[in-house]
Amino acid sequence: MMARSKLKIAILISGRGSNLQSLIDHFGPVITGSPIEIVLVLSNRPDAFGLERAKKAGIPSLAIDHKAYPDRAAFDAAMDQAIRASGAEMVVLAGFLRLLTDGFIAGWRDKLVNIHPALLPSFKGLHTHARALEAGVRFHGCTVHYVRPEMDTGPIIAQAALPVRPDDTEESLGRRVLEAEHRLFPLALRLIAEGKVRVENERAIVDDAAFAGGVLFNPMGS
Ligand code: GRF
Repeated sequence: MMARSKLKIAILISGRGSNLQSLIDHFGPVITGSPIEIVLVLSNRPDAFGLERAKKAGIPSLAIDHKAYPDRAAFDAAMDQAIRASGAEMVVLAGFLRLLTDGFIAGWRDKLVNIHPALLPSFKGLHTHARALEAGVRFHGCTVHYVRPEMDTGPIIAQAALPVRPDDTEESLGRRVLEAEHRLFPLALRLIAEGKVRVENERAIVDDAAFAGGVLFNPMGS
């Protein structure tokens, strides 16, 4: 059987890049048998620590400072050009903190994914952990989804859920969600690279994967 060629991805970041690091650890140049090749790491902030992570791993990296462009459309066009020049077939948002224009999003339809630190469609936007605590939900988590123009919407590919503890703080909850993100993102991207994810009627269908059974209770009783 012929080996499937690797899915070429560009990863967009704005900051520390811990999710980027997890993707490098799973799919980076030294990983044998990876179904994914990271062809570009792009940051809108020249001082993003994630750029150092890319350099250290020997992955091409680039900063395109949004402040150097007159508007969002011009900035997005510059990014689009750099991404296409890299040969990327898919764009991965890993803590990219700029809103993208509808034009950019349309150009990468079903080839643009994001990770969000909440169980969508709950808690779109920022400060998700504080808002989850404030709402008193018993489960929180993270979501990997295809991107649509409306912020934090789009077909859901995978989610990780974790119980909220009575003594959780924004920090402790955020730390556990981030650990879950570092596992969920590679899992979701691997499913895509293996050709197991398709979008039908605005839902992502995942073929041929294992699904968790059972029911979780929180609290579990006395
Ligand atoms: C993550 O919580 C991610 O879900 C959100 O931004 C954060 C990025 O963190 N979109 P890092 O830069 O990957 O460490």
